[in-house]
Order: sequence, then structure tokens, then C-alpha cells
Amino acid sequence: MRVIFLGAPGVGKGTQAQRLAAQEKIPQISTGDILREAVKRGTPLGLKAKGFMDAGKLVPDDVVIGLVDEKLKQPEVAAGYVLDGFPRTVAQAEALDRLLQDRGITHVINLDVPRDEIVRRLSGRRSCPKCQRVYHMDSAPPAREGRCDNCGESLQQRVDDKPETIESRLAVYDRQTRPLIEYYDKKGLLHNLDATGSIERVYANVLAAVHSQRHV
Ligand code: AP5
Repeated sequence: MRVIFLGAPGVGKGTQAQRLAAQEKIPQISTGDILREAVKRGTPLGLKAKGFMDAGKLVPDDVVIGLVDEKLKQPEVAAGYVLDGFPRTVAQAEALDRLLQDRGITHVINLDVPRDEIVRRLSGRRSCPKCQRVYHMDSAPPAREGRCDNCGESLQQRVDDKPETIESRLAVYDRQTRPLIEYYDKKGLLHNLDATGSIERVYANVLAAVHSQRHV
């Protein structure tokens, strides 16, 4: 199974990708998580990416494509993987097609949520900086307030979840990422899912989509 999660910021790509990857025992490749880790460590990649991320803009294509290329060469992706947050531009999608050749993507899951719900989800999001698990203060709170259930680390709010940056990320999505819906629809890989229900309900629909139609 080689799956892409598409959708605007905050629709729940990371939440669903994490579950699917854990259940299928395949890696979740989140370009956002990889970039945030690089920023935290102050690596050359992180220094390059930080300004773009803080402003809610996309990191340049060549940087992100290089990063995914490296991940897809690792032996642990042989049995499949879940891409979360990549591709995000038509240039990235075309580069991915070239990288994968005959071992192409099997399913593209596009999650759809109205704007006011996206803003609610992003404003209440808290994440674990250590294991990247995602919570929401109302809809997915941790058992112990402010602490990750998985590793006990203190939860944090992302820098780019400020209201003005959320607006800029949504505008970038409309301009640069939304065209990918048509790109993958034309390839016959797209599954459009209403992602407004509970996390469990959306996940049930994700499972139905990835098992309904196995492209090999
Ligand atoms: P990235 O980390 O990919 O951010 P994003 O796409 O903006 O998506 P988010 O992580 O904000 O949201 P999500 O859809 O994963 O939602 P989540 O599951 O967390 O990218 C960050 C930045 O990195 C970019 O702006 C860019 O600068 C750079 N970048 C990354 N990839 C790049 C690329 N390919 N090219 C160039 N630049 C790149 O859920 C959100 C909240 O909602 C959580 O609190 C969750 O608990 C809650 N929630 C989830 N599902 C539900 C539900 N069903 N009901 C109620 N609450 C829910």
C-alpha cells in the first residue's frame, strides 16, 4: 500500500496517516514532521526551511523533493508507506511519479472539511515535539493535561497555528496544492472523503477506501 493523504492544513491528514501507518505497520512519511525536526535541531535543512514554515509558505520544491527521495530509498519503505503533506505542488507530484516509476502510488485520500472547522481544529491542536503524536484540546485531549500519552513529553502549540499564519497557509493551499485533486483524479487514484465526522468515523472511511480498490 503506497498512500498519499491530501487536503488543506488541519483537515486531519497527520491524525489519519499516523493511524493507518501504525495499523498497516508501514512508515508514515510526514514532510512537515521531518522539517520541524530539522528546524528544532538547527540543521542546514532546518535553517533553510524555518522562514518559509513560520510564514506559512511552502519550502522550495527542490529541498522537499530531495528529502522525500532520500526517504524512499530506505529499505523500510519496501512494504509500503503513507505520505502525509507531500506532494503539495504539481511539480512535487511529477517528481514523485519519476521517483516511483513502476512502484507507483496505490491510493490518494483527499480529506475535505469546511473552513470554520479547519480553524477550530488548528487553534486547539497540541502536538508532542518528541514523538509527534497529535492531540486536540476538545476533540482528542491527552489523558493527563498537557502531557503526551505516548511518551510523557510536554505538549506544544505549533508556531504556524497562529490565526494570521493559518490564513496564509489556507491561501497557499488553494493556490498551490488544490490542483493536485484534479491531478490524481485524472489518474484514477483519488478517494474524496468527507472528514467532518469524529476521528474514528473518518478512519473507518479511510480504511474502506484503501481496501476497496487495491491497485498493485
Ligand atoms: P505540515 O506539517 O504538513 O502542515 P499542514 O499540511 O499545514 O497540515 P497540518 O499538520 O497543519 O494538519 P493535518 O491535516 O495533518 O491535521 P492534524 O491531523 O494535525 O506542514 C507544515 C509546513 O511545512 C508547511 O506550511 C510548509 O512550510 C512545510 N512543508 C511541509 N511539507 C511540505 C511540502 N511537501 N512542500 C513544501 N513545504 C512543505 O489535525 C489537526 C487538528 O485537528 C488536531 O488537533 C487533531 O487532533 C484534530 N482533528 C483531526 N481529525 C479530527 C476530527 N475528525 N475531528 C475533530 N478533530 C480532529
